[in-house]
Amino acid sequence: MGKTGCRVIDLPRVADPRGNLTFVEGDNHVPFDIARVYYLYDVPGGTSRGGHAHRDLQALIIAASGSFDVSVDDGEHQERFFLNRSYHGLLVPNMVWRELDNFSSGGVCLVLASAVYEEDDYIRDHAEFREVARARRAAEPAPPSAADAA
Ligand code: TYD
Repeated sequence: MGKTGCRVIDLPRVADPRGNLTFVEGDNHVPFDIARVYYLYDVPGGTSRGGHAHRDLQALIIAASGSFDVSVDDGEHQERFFLNRSYHGLLVPNMVWRELDNFSSGGVCLVLASAVYEEDDYIRDHAEFREVARARRAAEPAPPSAADAA
């Protein structure tokens, strides 16, 4: 797992000379029930999508066709992932800002989401995101220290 909590999941592959197949089961290959599927396509070169975080929603982002970059930010750390395999999914936890860009021609971004569309779950302003992320970190219980274990 990376510094932001995002990680690439290797999805099952059924190789077949007639064409390969990959499947995803909620609460099995992804750690949530899949409530919604959406996809981005016909993305013009040079444009970006995303540009938000979710308060609670988790997502698996898949380059179903072609490729693109996903930049993620948890308020403290940043990472960039290049997705170009239909059997790789980037797991993005809640409270992670994401931007998708550098779409290849014909690139399709498939998103499996843990919740239905709810605008109140979105944070679309980066300054607000940093503030909410900071407040959530401050509210987290401190990790156990060596003194606690003694
Ligand atoms: P938006 O979240 O801004 O797209 P992205 O983050 O992928 O660039 O969504 C664009 C528009 O589509 C916005 O008006 C909300 C609408 N929308 C839905 O109605 N349902 C959905 O499931 C999604 C993802 C978006």
